[in-house]
Amino acid sequence: MMETKILLVDDEEGICQVLSISLADLGYKVYTADCAAEALRIFREIDPPIVLTDIKMPGMDGLELLREIKRLDPETEVIMISGHGDMNLAIKSLKYEATDFVTKPIKDEALEIALKRAHEKIGLRKKIKQHTDNLEQLVDKKTRRLLDGERRIAVGQTMAGLSHVLRNIAGGLEGSVFILEKGMELDNKQYILQGWETVKVNVEKIRNLSLDLLKYAKPDYGNYRLCDPNKPVKDVIDLLKPRAEHNGIVLKTDLSSELRPHRLEPEGIHRCLLNLITNALDASLTASSEASSKEVIISTGKVDDGGVEYRIEDHGVGMDEEIKEKVFNSFFSTKGAMGTGLGLMITKRVIDEHRGIIKFESEKGIGTTFTIILPRIFPY
Ligand SMILES: Nc1ncnc2c1ncn2[C@@H]1O[C@H](COP(=O)(O)OP(=O)(O)OP(=O)(O)O)[C@@H](O)[C@H]1O
Ligand SMILES: [Mg+2]
Repeated sequence: MMETKILLVDDEEGICQVLSISLADLGYKVYTADCAAEALRIFREIDPPIVLTDIKMPGMDGLELLREIKRLDPETEVIMISGHGDMNLAIKSLKYEATDFVTKPIKDEALEIALKRAHEKIGLRKKIKQHTDNLEQLVDKKTRRLLDGERRIAVGQTMAGLSHVLRNIAGGLEGSVFILEKGMELDNKQYILQGWETVKVNVEKIRNLSLDLLKYAKPDYGNYRLCDPNKPVKDVIDLLKPRAEHNGIVLKTDLSSELRPHRLEPEGIHRCLLNLITNALDASLTASSEASSKEVIISTGKVDDGGVEYRIEDHGVGMDEEIKEKVFNSFFSTKGAMGTGLGLMITKRVIDEHRGIIKFESEKGIGTTFTIILPRIFPY
């Protein structure tokens, strides 16, 4: 085993000599200095793990030396040698993280106990370091493996979902091109108009998809502003009314007049309501033909703490447990080529960004109610 280096600092030559012999006997490689300045020079050169220093010395004293050494290398164990009268100094040195102190005249036994303490501390520190190193390596390895795997799966799923959606849109466009060509070939205006309508629907789909993907990629914190919370509801109703009427569905509204302007991102909330109400219409369309199932009720209200609540209630097909679990997943849709399955995922994202809550209750064959709650206090 390599000898442990020890630096011995004392201005009294006699003490230095005696201690050097004792320390060498104990197996140390001893370096000596007769003042603090010399001690620092040697310390910088050999960086010993243990320093043994007199407290009282002319010039820079042991206490100052201790502090300087701890500053240079906090892991150095410094044992102080104190004379009879400097108990206070010795105690003070402990505050500056001296390992121990031995009093003059130095007994071998006391010196050995102090050195043992120093070694114990060094050993402990080494163990802790090994431990944390191992732990760091382990955590590093685990997280890297996890991230790699998870990221690859996530990217793969996104790609698969996207490809599915794009294939649907391409399919739609192919169909419309076919009808358009037939219409031109036969000079049939009906065909041409029909083909043209389908082109427009699919162009709209691509536009919405790209907007959704953008929203998914980066939240837009810059667009939050004070708005009438009922405004996006009215806009969306205006937008969807023709489609609802065309399908014999009544859009009923019950908008609270108590709502004060609320800080929100209007485009985001518009997107959420558009999807929730569209979903409600789709669900009502595929439901049985009972009159009540042809009604979608959209209401707003005040929440206790001044927040805003949106509710969209339909009496459509409802959802079974399996569907309920997946509704917020990206690209989950039961609508085949008609749905991208991004709607609720984006909706949830927007509401999360608002630090809000989105929840729903649904029963198969009975209907569904989605509720959004936006809190009053808001970070952006
Ligand atoms: N009100 C509802 N009633 C019944 N099922 C619903 C309702 N809302 C959502 N769902 C179910 O959740 C699925 C996911 O909805 P989401 O809005 O995310 O996608 P989508 O409507 O299928 O497609 P899009 O991306 O065009 O919105 C739907 O396909 C449907 O099965
Ligand atoms: Mg939808």
